[in-house]
Amino acid sequence: MREVEVGRPTELPVFEALRRHREEIGARHLRELFREDPDRGGRHTAEAAGIYLDYSKNRIVDETLRLLVAFAEGMGLRERIEAMFRGEPINETERRPVLHVALRAPRGERIVVDGRDVVAEVHHVRARMEAFAEALRAGEVRGHTGRPLRNLVHIGIGGSELGPRMVCEALRPLARDDLRIRFVANLDAFDFAEAVRGLDPEETLFLVCSKTFTTLETLTNARTAREWLLARCREPAAVAHHFAAVSGNRAEAERFGIPAERIFEIWDFVGGRFSVDSAIGLSVVVAVGAAAWADFLGGLRAMDEHFREAPFERNLPVLLALISIWYSVFFGAETRAVLPYSQALARLPAFLQQLEMESDGKGVDRAGRPVTWPTAPVVFGEPGTNGQHAFFQLLHQGTHLVPCDFIVPCRGPYPIAPHQDLLVANGLAQAEALAFGRTPDEVAAEGVPPELVSHRSFPGNRPSNTLMLDEVSPRSLGALIALYEHRVMAEGTLLAINSFDQWGVELGKRLAGTLAEDIRAARPAGRDSSTRTLLARYLERRRRT
Ligand code: F6P
Repeated sequence: MREVEVGRPTELPVFEALRRHREEIGARHLRELFREDPDRGGRHTAEAAGIYLDYSKNRIVDETLRLLVAFAEGMGLRERIEAMFRGEPINETERRPVLHVALRAPRGERIVVDGRDVVAEVHHVRARMEAFAEALRAGEVRGHTGRPLRNLVHIGIGGSELGPRMVCEALRPLARDDLRIRFVANLDAFDFAEAVRGLDPEETLFLVCSKTFTTLETLTNARTAREWLLARCREPAAVAHHFAAVSGNRAEAERFGIPAERIFEIWDFVGGRFSVDSAIGLSVVVAVGAAAWADFLGGLRAMDEHFREAPFERNLPVLLALISIWYSVFFGAETRAVLPYSQALARLPAFLQQLEMESDGKGVDRAGRPVTWPTAPVVFGEPGTNGQHAFFQLLHQGTHLVPCDFIVPCRGPYPIAPHQDLLVANGLAQAEALAFGRTPDEVAAEGVPPELVSHRSFPGNRPSNTLMLDEVSPRSLGALIALYEHRVMAEGTLLAINSFDQWGVELGKRLAGTLAEDIRAARPAGRDSSTRTLLARYLERRRRT
């Protein structure tokens, strides 16, 4: 790898200014900030691509924003955004460009990498995948015995599963009833067995999604799927009718038995966790059709344009990234909660966990030097209102500072009164309670017995963003995903890290390979006494059962 020059955030003069500013702000309560500036709820807002962001319930004032924007400029965020869109190899450790934005670029736009027009390649694959999906929806794709394929089992893991599964779930109200789509990710046979339960192999298509086509979980599940199919169909030729793949490794996919015309390309310049709008999203196209897919891509594209062009002060992904590092770097917040008030977005937190934590959970900067500042927070979440009855107690009265993202669609897909009004009321109420709390005086004034006053008081001053959308549509969902993709990129840039590699997943994979060998040989080996003892116990238990 060529030597990378990257500034260290802590060495920027504005970093020190932010640290001093944090001391002043640290002593101030959101109650006070709203008292002083009663209009901040309407002022600290920004809107783009159908998403309205209210960031007024954060521990910031105008000066904070001014300093944070100066910090972003100092870290070269503007230049890095441009470098990404131009296709420069900003993923330095893997020497690759980062071009998920090419996946939603309109036909005719040119992004040239090593002499190839990648947008043209993207559109070529998109046309193939849409044609295949539409044929499947029309019942024109038939299995080995001539029956139409009506079940799609998507096999993949990580970025090759979380995105399409989340989007399929979110857009389920638009999906057809006569096509069943299921997902298999886990190595645990439970996942495969439950996914195919009740399915007729003669009517089932397996879509094997793996950029590398070497991932242990996906290949193990794909082989099991092949056996499951052949147990019914008997003839090996059936595999070609019942399998398709999305992969960057055509040779391995073909070796598995998948015909060339059933393999849809994904490229090195698209990272797994940024690939939901590549052919990895084929199951989404099957679920909702090519027209809705085009709307989804349109939403992503609208947010791309906003990210590239809007000034940082009004730029949604940049604002979210700045606010995030304000808490993680300057307040020591180690977590962040994402709270969609929408059952459709139930799997968004899981998707964002990979997107944010695999991207920005790094310990060295882009030049390979250890960081001396915190990187990505731990991201967790649940849809509202379920989370309220689970972990919100800690958010309100616990000892951790947990900045929250509330995501609130105004309309649900099923207009059954009074659900939506109650749902929105709850989301807004939680953000309000977190920000303003309830003082001991207020509690006592309500007649609460003195011994319970401290228990029933709420400190408040707990920050949140609220993202409001009209509804969860293909377009708004696309915009929301691109918003988070770009937030991750901006945050990585501010932290001087490479958001696009994931070396931290390698060691565990290697050790699992060695241990699997030991298990196969029934050899209680292992490099340490804990692993050795556990392995011996497993082998002994396995022998007994
Ligand atoms: O193990 C992590 C990872 O490499 C992710 O980054 C990726 O999304 C996932 O595995 C799946 O990889 P593949 O698509 O190559 O099977």
